[in-house]
Amino acid sequence: MPIVPPIKSQGIKTKLVDWIASNVEDINYDRWVEPFMGTGVVGFNIQPKKALMCDSNPHLIKFYNGIKNKEITSAGVKKFLTEEGVKLLESDGAYYYDVRKRFNEEGSSLDFLFLSRSCFNGMMRFNRKGGFNVPFCKKPKRFAQALVTKITNQVKNVSQIIETGDFTFKCQDFQTTLKEVDVNDLVYSDPPYIGRHVDYFDSWSEEEEIILNQMLENANAKYVLSTWLSNKYRTNEYIFSIWNDSFIATKEHFYHVGGKEANRNAVNEALISNVNLKYCIPTKEMEIKIKNGDSLLTSQQSEYKKPTQLMLLLEEENLNK
Ligand SMILES: C[S@@+](CC[C@H](N)C(=O)[O-])C[C@H]1O[C@@H](n2cnc3c(N)ncnc32)[C@H](O)[C@@H]1O
Repeated sequence: MPIVPPIKSQGIKTKLVDWIASNVEDINYDRWVEPFMGTGVVGFNIQPKKALMCDSNPHLIKFYNGIKNKEITSAGVKKFLTEEGVKLLESDGAYYYDVRKRFNEEGSSLDFLFLSRSCFNGMMRFNRKGGFNVPFCKKPKRFAQALVTKITNQVKNVSQIIETGDFTFKCQDFQTTLKEVDVNDLVYSDPPYIGRHVDYFDSWSEEEEIILNQMLENANAKYVLSTWLSNKYRTNEYIFSIWNDSFIATKEHFYHVGGKEANRNAVNEALISNVNLKYCIPTKEMEIKIKNGDSLLTSQQSEYKKPTQLMLLLEEENLNK
């Protein structure tokens, strides 16, 4: 089981993090850089000695800087969610919308956490004015003690990882982050998928994908990009037009729609890199495989050697169950 961060989002890589980690574990680098950190789940599981974690969403960065400078603690989170959870229950859920309004006016990180953990499907979505607009999950008893304890432990785990490593969090556009990249960095990019999801902090175009490719190529550092190769209906042609001179590793992944087993959608997830990943082939070879109708999988899931600190945290989590 990977370390799970306290903030949720629809693009979260929790289920792919072991595969990503196993592909990059033999790569040498001085600093791990994420221009699109999202919930931070990848960096928090890789646990590099030094990391630059960035995102254009200010609420994510404020939250993790709050943990780093100890304004947000597990004890504070426990007290806040317990008290606010009572108000949610007593209002039969209506209080969710009071917190959402307060968050959109004041931007408090604890309100952000409250919304992330009690909104519909753990989604993160902002309207054109930058206001959080996801509706309530319709569970007034949402912050029962078991969930509050789980979230409190997630905050504790992440703060321990941030404290042990040298983590810097910055709210900035990916282009600013890529200008700060050094030759000894490993850049892990997980941009939004083109055209999939349009949101105030989270939209992506073909032009941006081209700029990302050019800046990564020009940075002279090692890079790994998360994207998708194909699903039942189509193939991601950008891999062969924009990322055609790279290596590719793939893994089949199932997304559940509405939690029903019958509604699972298989997607071939991909990692694109300018270095030889553990289980990869040249992108051009993949193009031939597609034309020939061959299997698109480059590897089976492998056992990832977890860092010692992560093992200790996981053991502790099991003891607390
Ligand atoms: C697919 S998500 C990253 C998910 C992350 N790897 C995780 O597992 O939680 C993409 C992220 O890119 C951020 N983003 C979108 N456009 C951006 C831009 N122009 N510059 C920097 N970050 C951006 C979004 O706010 C979002 O958090």
